[in-house]
Amino acid sequence: MKSLLNTLTVVVMLAVVSIANATPEQDKESFQRFYTERFPDITMEDFGNGVYALDQDARNQWEAMNDFPPYEDDLEKGGELFNTAFANGKNYASCFENGGGNIRQNYPMFDTKRNTVITLELAINECRVANGEKLLPYKKGELAKIAAYMTSTSEGSPINIVIPNNGKALAAYQAGKQYYYSKRGQLNFSCSNCHIQNVGRKARSETLSPALGHTSHFPVYRMKWESFGTLQRRFDSCNKQVRAEPLEGQSEDYRNLEYFLTYMSNGLPVNGPASRK
Ligand code: HEC
Repeated sequence: MKSLLNTLTVVVMLAVVSIANATPEQDKESFQRFYTERFPDITMEDFGNGVYALDQDARNQWEAMNDFPPYEDDLEKGGELFNTAFANGKNYASCFENGGGNIRQNYPMFDTKRNTVITLELAINECRVANGEKLLPYKKGELAKIAAYMTSTSEGSPINIVIPNNGKALAAYQAGKQYYYSKRGQLNFSCSNCHIQNVGRKARSETLSPALGHTSHFPVYRMKWESFGTLQRRFDSCNKQVRAEPLEGQSEDYRNLEYFLTYMSNGLPVNGPASRK
């Protein structure tokens, strides 16, 4: 029994090591190639439209809905919030490069001084705290609206996630990747089981979207939520589907996952915020 356990551990470790050997650049190339070979008729840009790139009927309904985007009011509110001064007279723009405009494509980024992944949502809240304001809840509400507004100013800019050549940054990337390929929950599914191995197939009534382009359009306004939700709110929905415990917003695991998954879409244009079912 003991030796069987040892053998299993060795096999698992070897598998992890062989994944870990590829550079992020090599990972990204094979990841993108997998989808472009699988769906040769879909343009790179269209991958950012998720299931609507695969399912024409769903796309027609979605496009009709977007004649009057359901998120219009919330997006406008996000712009107002972004431009409202804090009690100390400063504002969000003072915390970001370029006054916070057209920067979404650079997030999440790795902070080499703090050795951690900084998502846009984390940076927004840190800006608040630095200016004496309270933290906002991470996955929805005002913070999601502000992030949606900031995303809208990056429309069309290519996603440009950088992994500095630094052991800590690589480790964060590898941890995110490991999370993506690990099975979890009572149903024992990994993210990759649905969005890579079973891409384009149906899970119950839903077509499984490609992971390429998965981060390009967040925050997303879901009809089911009747509001904007951040990418990490969507991670929760997927974790719940496999009956796994959702994680805290901006937990290290979620930030690393967001770092890995966004890097996989490098080069695709930002096309958010967007609406989904
Ligand atoms: C049991 C299958 C399943 C698993 C496992 C799963 N998802 Fe999903 N996911 C779905 C379905 C169904 C949807 C909604 C339809 C679609 O866009 O694929 C979805 C949607 C998404 C979206 C939104 C896509 C968009 O266009 O806005 C993201 C992002 C996502 N999943 C990421 C993940 C991540 C990260 C994991 C692992 C933590 C994961 N998923 C695990 C089934 C799954």
